Amino acid sequence: MKMIKRPDTKPRNPCFSSGPCAKRPGWSISNLQTFSLGRSHRSKIGKDKIKELISLSRNILKLPNDYRLGVVAGSDTGAIEMAMWSLLGSLDVEILSWENFGNDWVKDCVNELKLKNLKIHEADYGKIPDLSKVNFNNDIIFTWNGTTSGVCVPNSDWIKNQRKGLVLCDATSSIFAMPMDYRKLDVITWSWQKVLGGEAAHGMIVLSPKALDRLKNYNPSWPIPKIFRLAENNKVIEGIFEGETINTPSLLCIEDCIDALVWIESIGGLNGAIKRSQKNLQEIKFWVKENRNWIDFLSEREDTTSSTSICLKIVDPNFKKLSKDNQINIIRTVNQTLEKENVAYDINSYRTAPLGFRIWGGATVDSSDIEKLLPWIKWAYLSNINV
Ligand SMILES: Cc1ncc(COP(=O)(O)O)c(C=O)c1O
Repeated sequence: MKMIKRPDTKPRNPCFSSGPCAKRPGWSISNLQTFSLGRSHRSKIGKDKIKELISLSRNILKLPNDYRLGVVAGSDTGAIEMAMWSLLGSLDVEILSWENFGNDWVKDCVNELKLKNLKIHEADYGKIPDLSKVNFNNDIIFTWNGTTSGVCVPNSDWIKNQRKGLVLCDATSSIFAMPMDYRKLDVITWSWQKVLGGEAAHGMIVLSPKALDRLKNYNPSWPIPKIFRLAENNKVIEGIFEGETINTPSLLCIEDCIDALVWIESIGGLNGAIKRSQKNLQEIKFWVKENRNWIDFLSEREDTTSSTSICLKIVDPNFKKLSKDNQINIIRTVNQTLEKENVAYDINSYRTAPLGFRIWGGATVDSSDIEKLLPWIKWAYLSNINV
């Protein structure tokens, strides 16, 4: 491969990390309202703020009226783990895992909850398990978008409408970026630091009527710490859905998330946000097509290729014949060069994923910035592979 000219235009915003993700275009700390700060989160002002966040989220996503939405502790991890701890153990469980986060929830099921009748559907980085093998008589756990492999489920057609079990979905890097059929899901969790570009403080949890019924009629055999408790003596803790968080939230983070949600409304709501993410993926698709001699998507199927955590692998034969250490050095140098140039921060692939790049393509990233970034990646890569 020949050397190429150093590009001369840089992205306006070099933040392409997959979490915390770029702030919305035009974000400024001075735009945040601060009158709720220093007040009790149980005051009317505090509770109203949390309620505003819940209702904005519900309206933008168009959640079904009979689904409950609440703010919980511990970001997405807190939200999905509280669902697992509160709801699992009643039926057999099937879990799908094809990258790091799915794998973390497998570890929870195996090592912590020690579930007896557990079926694990696994696939390697770049692939997805055979979705037709899932049995919906059991409780199901899956991650809609595998943030560390850039592989997402193609849709929700594989989930049965009529099902005995609950479907628990970690949607943190897909919600607000991919269309989702909520009726196919009984628990949906996310954090604010992904597509919204909010601060990584609290988690959101959605519960379907069926999930609420489980809380009313089932008691897990394991202890549930206060921070994970969705019900007490089989009574759902209603406050969680009414702005009364279990413990103290950050009202500054809540203000920041409200700012992000208002911005989503201003770009056309959910559809506007999805379109921006798809445009970002499209930009990278064009580029990959022209550069397939050295770089490709990690996702092996087009219909499972994420539009948020867009993961790329190096397929260059000159790279592949190098030792692993040399490969790591090249990718590290490319990333350091891009960071020094203020062109791209944090686009290294996840530490357990195949070597390559991961570019965030959620709504807060402008496609014009992605367009400007790509020639820089090529320039930095070719400059280093050719030395
Ligand atoms: C799919 C997925 N699940 C869970 C998490 C953990 O999220 P948090 O750190 O917000 O708890 C992440 C973070 O990147 C993720 O991508």
